[in-house]
Amino acid sequence: MSSSTTPPARTAVGIVGGGPAGLLLARLLHRSGVDCVVLEGRDRGYVEQRQRAGILEQSTVDTLRGCGAAERLDREALVHEGIELRWNGRGHRIDLPALSGGRRVWVYAQTEVVKDLIALQLTDGAPLLFDAPVRQVTGAATGRPVVHYRHQGRDRTLACDYVVGCDGFHGVVRDAIPASELRGFERTYPYSWLGILADAPPSSDELVYAHSPRGFALLSMRSPAVSRLYLQVPNGTDPADWSDRRIWDELDARFALDTGWKLTRGPITAKAVLPMRSHVTEPMRFGRVLLAGDAAHIVPPTGAKGLNLAASDVTVLARAFDRLHRDGSTDLLDAYSDTCLSRVWRAEHFSWFMTTALHTEPGQSDFQTRLQASQLDRIATSGHAAAELAENYAGLPVDLPC
Ligand code: FAD
Ligand code: PHB
Repeated sequence: MSSSTTPPARTAVGIVGGGPAGLLLARLLHRSGVDCVVLEGRDRGYVEQRQRAGILEQSTVDTLRGCGAAERLDREALVHEGIELRWNGRGHRIDLPALSGGRRVWVYAQTEVVKDLIALQLTDGAPLLFDAPVRQVTGAATGRPVVHYRHQGRDRTLACDYVVGCDGFHGVVRDAIPASELRGFERTYPYSWLGILADAPPSSDELVYAHSPRGFALLSMRSPAVSRLYLQVPNGTDPADWSDRRIWDELDARFALDTGWKLTRGPITAKAVLPMRSHVTEPMRFGRVLLAGDAAHIVPPTGAKGLNLAASDVTVLARAFDRLHRDGSTDLLDAYSDTCLSRVWRAEHFSWFMTTALHTEPGQSDFQTRLQASQLDRIATSGHAAAELAENYAGLPVDLPC
């Protein structure tokens, strides 16, 4: 929407947040003919450059294809059919399609998904306002919730039939719901990730999740020329304390194989520390206010589920609004929270499992270390244990109960 156009004063669905959840919901609603407006607090460049997730599961790609947002993805994304788990100097490959009924994952960064959705929306989509921070949402329990936001130096309001909070973990929409109506479930972890981007070809064709007494490490990628790597570090770590050489040496130590293995090094172009947290807010709907994506739940990134859960929430929600729009029925909308939460808790469990199985806690007991080794050995020797991991990693179909 051009900066000189007056923003609409009312809409059917007011979407707060122009991250993956908000943008994908807007795209799906636009395709169903449901009127909506997206308000994003930050500028376009910031939203498009924010480094986050890198793995899309099968259902996310199916949804993006279904709404015409996968043209570049289908040209540029790397399709992956396996991941490697590495511990005790050995690697074990998980064959995703063979163990999950043919499902695979795509390496395509969140930044690229967001760029594709923004470009589509600005070309033929619903109004999308950048630099439009929402201050509050009032009237959640009434038939007409109102979004209060600031844009181009003026306070404005957007009257809505429904408001969807796609405004991430620190968003404001959740605050519109009386605290007495919500229940939060939370777990924090005693470690963080130091994530880097490096101009170096990935040292493996597939992602490598490494467990070692020195801590966890993950090898991922953004393209055939750019590596994305993570190291478990103590909470409160300052990235400035990690020189490039220290990072590469530590990565080499954690990924070491008995047969010998070294990473291909290259210039590090970004370094950031991210904390690890699990959080669920229940329910995901109160009256005419709904929550989706990180606004409702957070997972530690070890299971690669955050972005994919955001996509499945809004897929379910878009179907519910489509039904309402077509025949006035609120049945899918009424079921929204329960439908999503069963999948959310499956992803919470899987993300917790991957995190606790692969990280080494500060002061971890030998007992715990033996349990981790037993669990990883079980995955390497039992087709059932490997299939359980593969099904969760590649992601269950949105239509199946979790
Ligand atoms: P967000 O992407 O957080 O989008 C919310 C949007 O709302 C933002 O654009 C924000 O600017 C906007 N907003 C917030 N408040 C307001 C307001 N008041 N008014 C208007 N707009 C507002 N997942 C993985 O699977 N792998 C990873 O490696 C990974 N790394 C991550 C690293 C970080 C630092 C973080 C925070 C998350 C990471 N995640 C990762 C999780 C994944 O990126 C998220 O699950 C995903 O971004 C969720 O999308 P979303 O649209 O729900 O929320
Ligand atoms: C990433 O590429 O950023 C990535 C991949 C897999 C994960 C987490 C992050 O589990």
